[in-house]
Formats: sequence, C-alpha cells, structure tokens
Amino acid sequence: MASTEKIQADFDRLAVLSTEEWNHNDYYHSFLLKHVPAQCDQALDIGCGTGGFSRLLAQRAQHVLALDLSPQMICLAQERSRRFSHLEYQTADVLKYELPTTHFDCVVSIATLHHLPFAEMLSRMKEALKVGGTLLVLDLFRAESLSDFLWSIPAFPWNLALRLWKQHRLRPPHEVRQAWAEHGRTDVYLTLAQVRQSCKKVLPGAHITRHLLWRYSIVWTKPT
Ligand SMILES: C[S@@+](CC[C@H](N)C(=O)[O-])C[C@H]1O[C@@H](n2cnc3c(N)ncnc32)[C@H](O)[C@@H]1O
Repeated sequence: MASTEKIQADFDRLAVLSTEEWNHNDYYHSFLLKHVPAQCDQALDIGCGTGGFSRLLAQRAQHVLALDLSPQMICLAQERSRRFSHLEYQTADVLKYELPTTHFDCVVSIATLHHLPFAEMLSRMKEALKVGGTLLVLDLFRAESLSDFLWSIPAFPWNLALRLWKQHRLRPPHEVRQAWAEHGRTDVYLTLAQVRQSCKKVLPGAHITRHLLWRYSIVWTKPT
C-alpha cells in the first residue's frame, strides 16, 4: 500500500487536472443512491474527492460530512458545492479521524477503500452507523479467476461506448492519463474473494455485487 503522503500528493495533482467530466464511478451513482435510506438525517462520504456523490447525498440527507485527504480535492469540492449549506467538507485522513459512533444513517465510500486497511475500515464504518443505517461501498477489484477475465470481454466495448457518449472521446488527455498511470503504479486492489471473506467476518449478510466496469459494491444495513 502506498504511503499517505504519496496518496495525498497523487490526488492533489489529479485534482488540478480534474474537470466535471463523467468517470467510471459516476456510472454507479444511481445504483448507490437507490440504497440510501429514505429517511436520511446524517450521511458520511469517505474519500469524497471533488464531491460528486456528496452533492447527490446532500439532496437526500439533512447533513453530509465529506472527508478527503487531499486539500486540493476538498478545495474543488467546496467550490462546486456552494449551493449546499448542509454539506460539510473536511480535509482529513480518515484513519486518524475520530468518527462518531452510532451517528450516521448512511456511510458511503467510493473508489477509496483500496487505499486503506479494508477490514479495519469496514469495522469503523459499521461502528459509525446507526441501527438500521446503510453502509455503501463501491471500489475496484483485481481480476484473478477465469470468470473475472470473461466478464472483462463485454466490459471493454461498453467502456469505449460510454467514453464516446459521455466524454466525446476515447481517451482522456495525455497529462491526465500520465497522472493516473503514475498513481496506478502503487495501487493495490483486493480480489472479490478477499472482499467476500472480510465482509463475511465484519458485515455478515452484506450484498456484494460484481459490476461490469471492473468494480464491486457492498450494500449492508445495520441490524437491530
Ligand atoms: C479515486 S478517488 C475517488 C473520489 C470520489 N469518491 C469519487 O468517486 O470521485 C479516491 C479519494 O480517496 C481519498 N483518500 C485516499 N486515502 C484517504 C484517507 N486516508 N483519508 C481520506 N481520504 C482518502 C483521495 O484523496 C481521493 O480523493
């Protein structure tokens, strides 16, 4: 796993190159939103980046706390979220942040847990949830089995079609590709089997879904 300093530096650099363009995680926002509790007073977004999903949560929750390690990401997120007075951004390393216990109706993390100790983060997210609250994770996984590789076959043309439709080009600009490639050198993803194993221990009964674009989700509701 990369150091916190390296992760922060990578995302500060990526923030400077960021536009409000569609990305692969956004494709799953509507799936995640369907699982946000209808009565949502307090919500938490861990690793909020430029706040795309935090703003969607703010349309559903009375208060949203959105945390990110990268000051540049938080700066952009704040700029893009001026219309939401109940959306609170904080620059913070979630590993050092004291999350309130039994406080949130919804705790979300998108494309962030692969930077963090996975089982520990699931436990902390679980602790932070109220009874009946919902934990939502979307992240990338490492293909290892034949079925993982077979799933990639339809993903490639679908990915190209989505890029053309949403971004009107097949590849991001050179400097963006370069920044992601350098960041990706130290990225480590869990396999789906590892995700399932941790969920079995920490979040029994969690729904784990494999999605087409190289991602999985976890949906878990805290039982009474
Ligand atoms: C790939 S981005 C995803 C951003 C956003 N969730 C999205 O879907 O667009 C991962 C984010 O996690 C943040 N992050 C990584 N480690 C973190 C940590 N320890 N505490 C808080 N945020 C962290 C990074 O700064 C980065 O903005």
